Amino acid sequence: MRVIKTVPEMSEEAARLRREGKRISFVPTMGNLHEGHLSLMRMAKPLADVLVISIFVNPLQFEPGSDFDAYPRTFEEDLKKSEPVGVDIVFAPMESDLYPEDFQTTVEVAEVSKGLCGDFRPGHFKGVATVVLKLFNIVQPHVAIFGEKDYQQLVVIKRMVKDLNLNVEIRGHPTVREKDGLAMSSRNQYLSPDERRRATRLYRFLKLAKEHYGKGEHKAAPLIRMVKEGLAEDSSIKVEYVSVHDLETLKPVDDIVRPAVMALAVHIGKTRLIDNIFLGNNLTQRRNDRKEQ
Ligand code: PAF
Repeated sequence: MRVIKTVPEMSEEAARLRREGKRISFVPTMGNLHEGHLSLMRMAKPLADVLVISIFVNPLQFEPGSDFDAYPRTFEEDLKKSEPVGVDIVFAPMESDLYPEDFQTTVEVAEVSKGLCGDFRPGHFKGVATVVLKLFNIVQPHVAIFGEKDYQQLVVIKRMVKDLNLNVEIRGHPTVREKDGLAMSSRNQYLSPDERRRATRLYRFLKLAKEHYGKGEHKAAPLIRMVKEGLAEDSSIKVEYVSVHDLETLKPVDDIVRPAVMALAVHIGKTRLIDNIFLGNNLTQRRNDRKEQ
């Protein structure tokens, strides 16, 4: 496994691989790798000849006053975890290399960045789209994998790739969960043991909503109410949003007649957590459901 720390070196290596006719798969990360990231890498590995991951805590996607400084940086452990899953190249650029002082261009994916997390994290998806486009230009992947836990991010990236005619295939990976259902996230480690226990409510009530949807409740409002009420039973959980959206356009949905996603964001203590569940006939969700049976 090779570690590349500069943009020119990574660009040259990507160009060389492409010249040799090699396929490149790519998993961008902010490090602090957990089983969720490793699953993305396992999915990416057989899709190409060379698996590249990036480790870069992207300042552009953290709103002022958020946890950028506190975000866990665990580079050495990340390397130890990446090697056994077959990562070939770890690209870990310096901030000054990706964003030199005169940097001034950003990418905004207008519509799908609105609503959900976009309403609560101004500038977040602009920061994500900008760094991902830069990483795509440097790493030149044929295929890139993103987790479905950050569902809005996945849709933003897909939209950007389509709108800007980027030559990269984007694949989503089903959310990886702890045994008790909590979606894996680097931010879970901020939770105290008590908060960690309370956090299991998120997926429990999302699953309940899906169950009711399965029994024929296809109106979003009662499903949203059910989840909000379930979460509100624990006063330490502060709900930011619970909503149902079209799977592709992310427009809010009242009647669920097409595949949709129910998504939520909450604060437990100082930690912000997000999660979602698919309602309707979604392929990846069917795969998830099978695993849980
Ligand atoms: O999902 C993440 O970890 C980040 O948003 C990403 C895609 C690596 C961009 O910084």
